[in-house]
Amino acid sequence: MIDRRAFLAAAAAATAGTLAGCAKKSPAKSDGSGSAGKPITLGFSQVGSESGWRAANTQSVKDSAKAAGINLKFSDAQQKQENQISAIRSYIAQKVDVISFSPVVVTGWDTVLKEAKAAGIPVILTDRSVETSDPSLYVTLVGSDFESEGERAAHLLEKVLAGHTGTVKIAQLEGTTGAAPAIERAKGFAKIMKASHPDWKIIASQSGDFTRAGGKQVMAAFLQAHPDIEVLFAHNDDMAIGAIQSIQAAGKAPGKDIKIISCDGVHDGFVAMSKGQINAIVECNPLLGPQLMDTVKTVHAGKGSTLPRWIKTQESDYTADQAAAALPSRKY
Ligand code: AHR
Repeated sequence: MIDRRAFLAAAAAATAGTLAGCAKKSPAKSDGSGSAGKPITLGFSQVGSESGWRAANTQSVKDSAKAAGINLKFSDAQQKQENQISAIRSYIAQKVDVISFSPVVVTGWDTVLKEAKAAGIPVILTDRSVETSDPSLYVTLVGSDFESEGERAAHLLEKVLAGHTGTVKIAQLEGTTGAAPAIERAKGFAKIMKASHPDWKIIASQSGDFTRAGGKQVMAAFLQAHPDIEVLFAHNDDMAIGAIQSIQAAGKAPGKDIKIISCDGVHDGFVAMSKGQINAIVECNPLLGPQLMDTVKTVHAGKGSTLPRWIKTQESDYTADQAAAALPSRKY
């Protein structure tokens, strides 16, 4: 588990000296160019293309780099850590100005991050955090508070179950094993259960790898073993949508026989919610590109030490009664 308070404290001590040392010597101008008028080159390693959220995030990064005049080198790691490490090494070899990545899992980054630091290339995390013994290995994280998303999911379930008494049998479709959103959403949800809902029981919990196919397959197995599931907490909309197919195949009505809470708020999730198949969604905003490009410029200008260690994304919660009205204005 990630103890954010611990790393924030350590980071505060480390920030002033070490991060400044990571920044390149030639400061960038606000239009995205370096001191010699050369555009900033950003090496970005994306997790993969596992979900609607990821597709929207990739588009946001590409569009925002273009709009900011930043030269983007982009690679898709296909949800494999070794591919991300290779991509980061390749960006170091190419001497890019700044590296950013959305880490597929939280652990195992220190070696490659030390290589980036030794090369004087600052690293910005986006979307997901890492566990590291040395907070100076990255400048800042631009992304969501996943633990709070898990807590919000539990509070949405309180609303969905209003008036219900007695035991509630819950199945959980976890995201990719070892990924920050999977660890922290489960943690936040469990925290509210422990504090306020002794009658809620998680009777099945397994990873569906944040994919539709994974959600469908794991939910089918859950229903075989536990035909009495009453609630599904899916760590993303895509897994919920896959699970809906298995729930229907089992002759049950998603959203009625089995209440469903998920995270993200992608277009297809809102469509399922407007049909009453998903009861509530915790929004996780993938449109991180504009904030990321601003952060890249600040860091490249040598002002990384002025940034907070965590630039948090603003998000909302939605219940099924709000879905139809909200759908036309959804941006992803
Ligand atoms: O890290 C964000 C998560 O990753 C999203 O919730 C999920 O859809 C994606 O794959």
